[in-house]
Amino acid sequence: MHNTFQIKTFEEYLEVYQNSISEPEKFWADIASHFQWHKTWDNVLEWDFTKPQIKWFEGAQLNITINCLDRHLPEKANHTALIWEPNSPNDSYRTYSYQSLFNEVCRMANVLKLMGIKKGDRVCIYMPMIPDLAFAILACARIGAIHSVIFAGFSANSISDRIIDSHCKHIITADAMSRGAKQIPVKAVVDEAIENIDFIENVLVINHQNWPVIYKENRDISYDILKQKVSVECEAEMMQAEDELFILYTSGSTGKPKGVVHTCGGYMVYTGYTFANVFQYQSKDIYWCTADIGWITGHSYMIYGPLLNAATTLMFEGVPNFPDPGRFWQVIDKHHVNIFYTAPTAIRSLMACGIEHVLPYNLSSLKTLGTVGEPINEEAWQWYFDHIGKGKCPIVDTWWQTETGGILLSALAGISPIKPTHAGLPLPGIQPVLLNSDGNEISENNVEGYLAVKFPWPSMIRTTWGDHERCRMNYFDTYKGYYFTGDGAKRDENGLYRIIGRVDDVINVSGHRFGTAEIENAINQTPNIVESAVVGFPHDIKGQGIYAFVVVENFTTDIENLKMQIIETIVEKIGRIAKPDKIQIISGLPKTRSGKIMRRILRKITEGEIENLGDTSTLLDPLIVEEIIKGRI
Ligand code: WT7
Repeated sequence: MHNTFQIKTFEEYLEVYQNSISEPEKFWADIASHFQWHKTWDNVLEWDFTKPQIKWFEGAQLNITINCLDRHLPEKANHTALIWEPNSPNDSYRTYSYQSLFNEVCRMANVLKLMGIKKGDRVCIYMPMIPDLAFAILACARIGAIHSVIFAGFSANSISDRIIDSHCKHIITADAMSRGAKQIPVKAVVDEAIENIDFIENVLVINHQNWPVIYKENRDISYDILKQKVSVECEAEMMQAEDELFILYTSGSTGKPKGVVHTCGGYMVYTGYTFANVFQYQSKDIYWCTADIGWITGHSYMIYGPLLNAATTLMFEGVPNFPDPGRFWQVIDKHHVNIFYTAPTAIRSLMACGIEHVLPYNLSSLKTLGTVGEPINEEAWQWYFDHIGKGKCPIVDTWWQTETGGILLSALAGISPIKPTHAGLPLPGIQPVLLNSDGNEISENNVEGYLAVKFPWPSMIRTTWGDHERCRMNYFDTYKGYYFTGDGAKRDENGLYRIIGRVDDVINVSGHRFGTAEIENAINQTPNIVESAVVGFPHDIKGQGIYAFVVVENFTTDIENLKMQIIETIVEKIGRIAKPDKIQIISGLPKTRSGKIMRRILRKITEGEIENLGDTSTLLDPLIVEEIIKGRI
């Protein structure tokens, strides 16, 4: 792929977009031809949203790592592929050329083979942000194993649910990790997670911090020992375009996270194409995406998208405020970062720390800025534009989802119109629509509706692991004939989209997604809790915060202790990232006569809109509402 598919002007975008809609198969076949295939496809696209069945590039064979690595070696062996910046600025950073990344990936791939891992096996990866995490992902892809990365902030209990759901017999982990000033054991969490799982064959342990680790005999193996035994050459397994590449769990409106499945061919074509176009990456640019690899952004735009384009991608182990809130800006100057991609929540929290943490840095290497994960408010947008981009860097506000695999709505940096707080126009090949509550398309501009997509794109979700019906129900059933995103959106007079937020029972906290039911399930497992209802409320830094209304069995005066117990249960069942911001103990939930919790009322109360609660006449016990209003936090 030699960037010949990079769009250069707005006129060109309009023309390409038009072609991509009128002849989608021709369009995508042309984009796909920029990649290296072992065998080309018999059929570009076959689809049926009612089942759903979506097949891209059927009959084609490929390996994504050949496209990420081998393909660049003849010309770019010495070009930097990965820069790793450690948690502490006093430790040394590391760089890997395309040649050395290739060697590391092949080495680990051979180790995985030694462990008995084969094509189609699921491999759970639970690791800190260290280079070995990138090697592990690519090593799985090299041998055709399906990686399932679990964000290292999830608890043992969450890991075990995910391991059981996808039946991962193999795990890759590390001894421990650092997050700011804290050191956190990692392997010990895995041990706890698999204590009662009898099908685990082996656990590969990367030594990152010389932290004492207990090795269980016949199960746990040190990477340092195994890597001595293998070569740095490993032939890539040939994959069918529709073979699974990875599973990534994400929260939905039911209590149980679902395993979103992405496949090899389409995911490669779409992430490669969109990375080049959205960020307008130029050879030798240094690109930094601050997302953790445990989320889809890390998969698509820290690993696969950049490497498919022979880019230099920076991986950061630490956190934005360690050792001080200037760390991001220090790293940008240190590595001469040209393209910087982060989350609105990070921008808001650093903005709140004061401009004095930005002023020491000159940030002159920056050309392009990006945001992802949640709506960005006008004030944060302006601060980012003025103080980080110095008024000269376009900001791409990229809208997408775990399920979409890649960015669907965004400006192309420096090419399409930018409007603060708007994601903007659809990328080529994407056909978004706004639907009204009857499921009819609203064709005019200056409107608001439910955001859906009416035609497939190569990196869209194929299924939810082990439960295809759940995939159909979740995304293809509410509005027949469409992929439904779960978001509400506006379209302005020029056709630019602005995302309003989720319209389902999903809350987005600092760009992390939780189902309200998932948190309620955890709370309800605390002793003395009868039931609970969780809603999202507007939060200055996090976008949305978690507000939990809790009904206790026996009233207690030691409210603080009870709240602590609730938090402990959530940390144990889900992880520390799901801690509620507010917990209110109440004597009952507002329910309809048929027993349905009226979340609308709870949401309004948490938003402070108590004058405007709407119709409460159908409530079983209207007095409850008054009690909740009085006690609100
Ligand atoms: C949800 C998807 C895509 C990677 C990170 C999150 C929200 C995402 C934006 C944006 C407004 C956004 C949506 C979406 N979202 N990007 N640019 N503007 N909202 O992935 O965890 O799958 O969450 O994040 O509500 O549905 P995810």
